[in-house]
Amino acid sequence: MPFDRIFLDELSARNDIVDVVSQYVQLKKSGANYFGLCPFHNEKTPSFSVSPDKQIFHCFGCGAGGGVLTFVMKAEGLEFPDAVRFLAARVGMQVPEQGEADRQAARRRDRLYALCKDAARFYYETLWRPENRMPQQYFLGRGLHRRTMNRFGLGYAPDSFHALLDAMTAKGYTRDELLDAGLVSRSEKGRIYDRFRNRVIFPIIDVRGNVIAFGGRVLDDSKPKYLNSPETPIFHKSRNLFALNLAKTTKSPYFILAEGYMDVIALHQAGFDSAVASLGTSLTEEQARIIARHVSQVVISYDADGAGQAAAQRAIDMLKKCDLQVKVLKIPGAKDPDEFIKARGADAFRGLIERSEDHNAYRLEQIADRYDLEDDEDRVQFLREAARMLAGIDSSIEREVYAGRAAKMAGVTAEAVNVEVRRELSVRRKKQRAAERREIRSPVGMAQPKDRALAYADIKSAKAEENVLRLLFSDQKLIAGIETALPPAWFSSPVLRKIYERVLALDQEGQMVDIVPFEGWLAPGEMGLLSSILEQSVPPGEHRQALAEYIDTIRMQRVRDGSITQTGEDPLLTFGRIKNKTREDKRYDDQG
Ligand code: CTP
Ligand code: MN
Repeated sequence: MPFDRIFLDELSARNDIVDVVSQYVQLKKSGANYFGLCPFHNEKTPSFSVSPDKQIFHCFGCGAGGGVLTFVMKAEGLEFPDAVRFLAARVGMQVPEQGEADRQAARRRDRLYALCKDAARFYYETLWRPENRMPQQYFLGRGLHRRTMNRFGLGYAPDSFHALLDAMTAKGYTRDELLDAGLVSRSEKGRIYDRFRNRVIFPIIDVRGNVIAFGGRVLDDSKPKYLNSPETPIFHKSRNLFALNLAKTTKSPYFILAEGYMDVIALHQAGFDSAVASLGTSLTEEQARIIARHVSQVVISYDADGAGQAAAQRAIDMLKKCDLQVKVLKIPGAKDPDEFIKARGADAFRGLIERSEDHNAYRLEQIADRYDLEDDEDRVQFLREAARMLAGIDSSIEREVYAGRAAKMAGVTAEAVNVEVRRELSVRRKKQRAAERREIRSPVGMAQPKDRALAYADIKSAKAEENVLRLLFSDQKLIAGIETALPPAWFSSPVLRKIYERVLALDQEGQMVDIVPFEGWLAPGEMGLLSSILEQSVPPGEHRQALAEYIDTIRMQRVRDGSITQTGEDPLLTFGRIKNKTREDKRYDDQG
């Protein structure tokens, strides 16, 4: 972790989780905890809890959880270092950067942010000069309201090779800084000149609200239509989305993913405040991950042409990788969302969203493309493959719908497809029932982590492992010497083992074992699991006794699965000795 522990502790202490969460969620106290509606999924009854004692939040509905930094990461859609900066700014703390090189790079970046902001202001002011009626008219003629133009900070780069260069050097920026920010170019003869000339300007703003780059469009049909900033120290095309700074606060459960600047702006003006665009490239996996931090659904609204549809296919793959629910919208009779809205209005576009198809329809078409549906043999193969795909759809209604569609495509009855799907489903159900039976037979069934990727292979052992961790977090004195009694290798769950090893290391370094050092270190799903463990209170009773019992359960499970033999010293005896050694502490505890 790049941040120093003392700083993070101070930061966490000064940003009480109840205060921070209260800025996003209306909380009501009930017992020791606070409850409210989860900001990370849609719900009508509160299942989102905040513990002021443990400084953690946890949602019983969606499984999200963690400390105050994790909360800010999720709520603001920030990476860990930015969440740290966000909370530091909130309480007026200075963020220590590591080493002189980092400090210098940070200073240089700050200069570039300031420069881009000043450049945006310059373009904006230039647009509204009386002599620049042409670019003003360009935007107004495309149907933008002045309010929308201001909201997006639209501007105009004058038809000059040095207007921006002069204005920015007058403000004290160096030529190198202008080059670094991609605002000027260098000719072969070494002359420096404005990159954007006689173009209307679209500032690109990052999630924190910093201007980081620009797109510039010609006012006519000349080429290239759009010119964008190059990659710079503050602008990484693949890691930013146009209008994310606005879309991040949407109440909509989905983002609308469009291709172009003008599409996004027209969508926002029409009231679709969750529209974003990738920046002139096809959607990257990083961008999909960023989207997944804000919403669980995406409606792809790309251009109607072949290129747009091909790009949609790639976007679906990226988005599905991030577990997003994906729909694809088709725009009839128009090139892109901007043109459609201009011609038909916002309500008509809302209708398109409502009729947008699940990506399953897309997949069916993809499968169909591989077969000649006029050919009997091919049709059988198509139906087999389609049935396998259909059986993978969770919702029975959706499955029904797409089964009907597959039947139509192959020219067979819906019943014929359903028979195939039912056969495929029954195979799957049999497998699933066997798995469930295994789970129910275990005394602690139904106890899997919300994040399926973390599923426990041995629930009985994993539950004991959870209990161990809960105890260690609640009473750090229990950690000393435990490694002998419970070697990390005995943990059945990789994530719980990972947490356990960190707990041991922290204790060794004399650091406090709480949620802070795990923030930004565990993946979100892992963090949700840890918060679900810590959220439960430690059962009353003798901690050491309880701990010894949990360790015994884990040990027995390892004996049972053959990873250890019963010979050798019984770890319980080892632990018994530790117990005796610390009996003095215990007595002191019991009195305190
Ligand atoms: N784009 C780009 N460079 C180009 C062309 C396009 O960066 N030479 C990017 C821009 O972000 C643009 C998007 O790709 O917004 C979509 O391009 P296109 O569909 O050609 O343009 P529109 O968004 O429809 O632009 P307009 O409506 O202004 O013609
Ligand atoms: Mn367009």
